Amino acid sequence: MKEQLGRLDGDEALRQQVLPFCRLRPGEVWQDSLAGHRIGCLDARNPAHIALLMDGQLAHVAIQDPPYNVLLDKRRSHALGKTALDAFLADCRQWIATSLAALAPDAHFYAWLGADQTDGFQPLPDFMLLMRGFEEVRARSFVTMRNQRGYGTQHNWMAVRQELLYYVKGNPPFDVAAEYTDIPKILRGYYKEIGGEKLDNAARSKSGNIRAGNVWVDIQQVFYRMHENVPGCYAQKPLKAIERIVRASTATNGLVADFFAHSGTTLIACEQLGRRCFTSDFDPVFAEIAIRRLERLRATGEPGWQAESPFPEIA
Ligand SMILES: C[S@@+](CC[C@H](N)C(=O)[O-])C[C@H]1O[C@@H](n2cnc3c(N)ncnc32)[C@H](O)[C@@H]1O
Repeated sequence: MKEQLGRLDGDEALRQQVLPFCRLRPGEVWQDSLAGHRIGCLDARNPAHIALLMDGQLAHVAIQDPPYNVLLDKRRSHALGKTALDAFLADCRQWIATSLAALAPDAHFYAWLGADQTDGFQPLPDFMLLMRGFEEVRARSFVTMRNQRGYGTQHNWMAVRQELLYYVKGNPPFDVAAEYTDIPKILRGYYKEIGGEKLDNAARSKSGNIRAGNVWVDIQQVFYRMHENVPGCYAQKPLKAIERIVRASTATNGLVADFFAHSGTTLIACEQLGRRCFTSDFDPVFAEIAIRRLERLRATGEPGWQAESPFPEIA
């Protein structure tokens, strides 16, 4: 099994082939008439673009997955690459501001990020310090997700982490039920006497499974054999991770914002969980892929293309 479409960011000729099939131009928004999602071809740093996307509404959670300022597979492209740290942080300052302005008074803010171990762990610590300047939010948790496939070096610890910073604005509700994994508890202990009976922690707790906590080890990294895989994308997040965030942070019909749509994972999670998603990407190709992924889910029940091409128009 081989993916029928190569990485769209690194191959300009391929991008030029698919561009004519993309229905949004920069500055445009597609309105979904079925579930009320909105998908834009917009720049996350531009307040006017984000105001257009939000259409006067405020989100209950923002889940942002920006470029990390690291080279992925040592490749540089128009969308992905490494700039001077100051320039990267100046961009971050702009999209953080547009994100916070799009949030309700009680809301959650999540940002995925990386730490380049070959370059002083940038930009993670710099981003954390930058966030301190936004006084309307406070830090809540620092989650690490384990990527199941890492770089198998023999000379260093295998790099398997993805960082997720969690902040809140006001006092939003948090649904702890979303935190339970499929992993059964294997540790016993913490005996307590209740009604004359000695009960261990497993007998007393709400679930026989462990909570994800802030180290997520139960999520498979997306690869071409998985049904949710989207060929052409290079930085797709697993649906399971985004679903966990959406369920913990919003009620049914809640509004979710994601200004770095890429393969449209947040949109698909929202569609499946009965939430509305306002999402955008500044690249028309990824805005189109997000729309197509939603249409495909509705038409076939499939959350992605596995190895098939999302652009069957081109050979
Ligand atoms: C890391 S990917 C997001 C992955 C996404 N969470 C998923 O699961 O598919 C980052 C995306 O942000 C887009 N992007 C980068 N800078 C942007 C900006 N200033 N405004 C909007 N989109 C941007 C890129 O085109 C890319 O598709």
